[in-house]
Amino acid sequence: MTVPMTLDLPGAQEMSAGDAHAFASDPPAYLRRLQDLHGDVFRNGPGQVYVGRPELVQLLLARTNRDTSAEMDVLGDMRAPTRNQVEGWMRARRLASTAFREPAVTAHLGAVDRAVRAQLRAASSGTPFDPMDVAPEVFVHAALPFCMPGTDPAVAPAAVDAARTFLDVIENGMGAPPAQQRERQEAARSAKQALRDATDAVSAQDAPLVPGCPHTVVHATQELQPGVRSHVLTTVLSAASVVPGAALAWLFHELTRRPTETARIRDEARSLPDDLDGCALAEVLPYAQGFAKEVLRFHPPTWMTGRATGDPVDLGTHRLPPRQFVSFSPYLLHRDARWWDEPERFLPERWLGSHPPHAPHAYLPFGSGTRVCIATHLGVAVLAVAAARLASDHVVEAAGPLPVTSRFGVPMRPENLRIVLRDA
Ligand code: HEM
Repeated sequence: MTVPMTLDLPGAQEMSAGDAHAFASDPPAYLRRLQDLHGDVFRNGPGQVYVGRPELVQLLLARTNRDTSAEMDVLGDMRAPTRNQVEGWMRARRLASTAFREPAVTAHLGAVDRAVRAQLRAASSGTPFDPMDVAPEVFVHAALPFCMPGTDPAVAPAAVDAARTFLDVIENGMGAPPAQQRERQEAARSAKQALRDATDAVSAQDAPLVPGCPHTVVHATQELQPGVRSHVLTTVLSAASVVPGAALAWLFHELTRRPTETARIRDEARSLPDDLDGCALAEVLPYAQGFAKEVLRFHPPTWMTGRATGDPVDLGTHRLPPRQFVSFSPYLLHRDARWWDEPERFLPERWLGSHPPHAPHAYLPFGSGTRVCIATHLGVAVLAVAAARLASDHVVEAAGPLPVTSRFGVPMRPENLRIVLRDA
């Protein structure tokens, strides 16, 4: 039986000043209200469609690069990439991804651990800090052994700066007056060039392999032209900083307010071997891994994202009009009682069973489909190892006078969070 397609979507073609205000003051509450009113697929402004069912989001993501586009030229003219550009990136990402496969993360878990411990030791001074000032660099250091053989002190800060300035264009540049938008784009372009200079300098040095980590993005992309390799490396390094850093900042926050869970992580960490190389995360840190996944469920840094369509796209029984931005929210999917038991409770143990604790496609902290994050295993591993080392080697306390809230920006990050880290 063929199911008829609906062309008419409920919702508003325009966004009133009241809607814009409601969205700005509490974005999830605004979207939930529209979802209650219109169902799971609706218009939410000019050229905008929102999709709130996991299986439809999955269909949308599976069609990326074919019927929909994942990115636009944020530092140029905001156009979608050409077919050649997309094919070039897909070839490069296929090669680069091999450095982040689960067996590679297991083989080099010790390198992650050493980097995380060194970074946490450096931050453990008893002086309050905003974790968003620290966590992005911690993440880059943990990812570096998988990216390039050897490094330079300039690389990690340059990666963070490239990501911050790029995300600033998306978060603050889009609706800004053209002069301000150009200024932000210029700042992002020069930060990207500085990262390129820092990584090119290292790659050109014929640097020795990182001990115990022979396979990196640089090795995996040998067959590409030097300019393309350099682009891939800078893209991967900047993706390894601010978005993952926001997840780590949320992990700090959850540790400060969950003494029982922290004690359980500490107990688990007691039996860790000295060298984690070759250790499967799920075997040595099952509870810390559950804690990390729960942090990503509760606080997905990419809380809302989407795809741009060119031609009309069919999603289930809906035919989406052409030239739309089709958005979805991992944050709302992760907190929907239709897809999870007790979604408003923070329960790391929900991840300890042998089956996923959610309806299919309802857990999307790393996206999904053709453009899913290339470092999902590494992302969870860094968070779990950081939880283990924070719980066992440090005392983590919150120091801010104001209540911690979520800033629903790019990425979603904690606001008013101040952390004090001391040695245990
Ligand atoms: C907890 C940590 C992390 C989170 C939550 C995260 C999340 C994401 C998300 C949501 C996307 C977009 C996926 C989509 O649109 O379907 C993405 C893409 C990406 N991520 Fe991650 N990520 C993390 C860690 C990392 C790390 C450590 C690296 C590099 C070492 C990395 C490299 C990338 C790259 C290169 C892309 C772009 C893929 C493409 O466009 O083809 N990510 N990530």
